[in-house]
Amino acid sequence: MYIKAKKDKLYSISYLIEREDDLAKFRNFLKHLPEMKRGVLRIAGLPDSGRTCFLNAIEYIALRYNYDVITLLTNPCIKTEENIKLISDVDKTRLNISNISHKYTESILNERILSNKKTGLILLADDIGKFDFESINLICRILNNKRYTNIALVYTNEIKAIKDIDYGCAPLYETINLSPLSPQGVRLLMNNIYNWNPPDLFLEWFYNETMGLPGLIKSGIQFLIGNDILVHDSKYGFDIKKEYINIKLSEGSQSKSFIAKNNLPSALTEFVGRSTEIEKINQMLDSVRLVTLTGPGGIGKTRLALQVASMRLYNYRDGVFFIPLSAVTKADSIAACIAKSMNIIEIQGQNIYSTLKSALYDKNCLIVLDNFEHVIDAASIISDLLTSTCNLTIMVTSREPLRISGEHLFCVPPLEFVNLQEKISIEKSIQQPAVNLFLLRARAVKPDFKITERNVKDIIQLCAYLEGIPLAIEACSSKYRTNFYT
Ligand SMILES: Nc1ncnc2c1ncn2[C@@H]1O[C@H](COP(=O)(O)OP(=O)(O)OP(=O)(O)O)[C@@H](O)[C@H]1O
Ligand SMILES: [Mg+2]
Repeated sequence: MYIKAKKDKLYSISYLIEREDDLAKFRNFLKHLPEMKRGVLRIAGLPDSGRTCFLNAIEYIALRYNYDVITLLTNPCIKTEENIKLISDVDKTRLNISNISHKYTESILNERILSNKKTGLILLADDIGKFDFESINLICRILNNKRYTNIALVYTNEIKAIKDIDYGCAPLYETINLSPLSPQGVRLLMNNIYNWNPPDLFLEWFYNETMGLPGLIKSGIQFLIGNDILVHDSKYGFDIKKEYINIKLSEGSQSKSFIAKNNLPSALTEFVGRSTEIEKINQMLDSVRLVTLTGPGGIGKTRLALQVASMRLYNYRDGVFFIPLSAVTKADSIAACIAKSMNIIEIQGQNIYSTLKSALYDKNCLIVLDNFEHVIDAASIISDLLTSTCNLTIMVTSREPLRISGEHLFCVPPLEFVNLQEKISIEKSIQQPAVNLFLLRARAVKPDFKITERNVKDIIQLCAYLEGIPLAIEACSSKYRTNFYT
């Protein structure tokens, strides 16, 4: 099938090759959607397998089948006003659902879906692993809204992603696995893009180097051209320099899908709320080099810092590192602890602090120093690290401020909870982060736990009594569970 040509020829051709069967599966899904009313389709593949291109092809097909299509993005740095962006050519909509009022987003969607004369709505989400819990919650609510029919989510994620998301009553229809291209597919790509028929020996080498992954093929060719290994020849396409055989494309080419170096622990429980806080901290980290999250024990400093850090993985070329200091008792062990977490090797005969400073001198990293209150007397080490490096950013969690120059404080507030005076529906109360946290943690111990007319008031009262402190809510949601399970 011919897909409308894009400006970038490489990009347009790469997703047309050897994807016919996969596109047929999507058409089949569209055909069945009116019977199913709602559904979910997963597109899985390795990095560079062309998942984004495939999603673009799907968008084009769905529009031609008279579906409305909205591509969901989560960019915490984009502000509310820039939330909805209608891209002028054809009717493509990109909707940023991160860190903005979900009520606002839902009202926009509501208006659009109900006033629309289309067959239905397809929501597209590229790389759903990067979507935060709140955004996933929003998607679930839209999919489960009984007023909408013929609504579907098509998302891409890593082939290895183990945790799949439960989208409530929207069932997973099928997983489409995007395979790498065959050697014939790669040859076809070369023919189409450059009118070039590469010699077998070169193709064999190139195929082994790129494993048939369209993203690597694209960056690999660009790398070879940029390094004068492939020299344009108007008659035969390209002249190949013999040196290609010594090149390792995986090292030389700058693949766009670089995986940020990090040691962030993966969260075992869902994250709730905090959209405003995340937006503010992100803004601070965009412009300053030292941010301290302060607040009493259990308020959620560590969890918030980890959430922000995981959203910024792609902002730092040399990585994002989490350094827990709770076990550090002596100030002079801090440098060793940082170096160990960052895999910086101690050089014999050299003081570890000097090694650390020279290793970090021009590195573009974010380091998160957790629980700094333990070693608060050694706060000057942070100013010293910042002044002796040029591209390092530090986020600290501490029950008390460090009180050093260059520090920007962010005081972590409690989780929002419902005002007891207001009459509020169950659905609305669950949307409040404190109640939502209670619900999620209660469900972890009793999966069929529900908030009902009978228990909602007690739960709201409890959250208010606990002043929205996440640690206390977590403790109570399991401790008092028997009272609410009636
Ligand atoms: N926004 C949130 N969503 C879900 N769980 C949260 C959230 N904030 C905090 N929690 C949970 O509440 C508990 C306490 O949070 P956390 O450990 O981050 O507190 P803290 O302020 O770092 O405390 P301390 O000062 O003792 O280090 C943790 O189990 C954490 O997972
Ligand atoms: Mg902590």
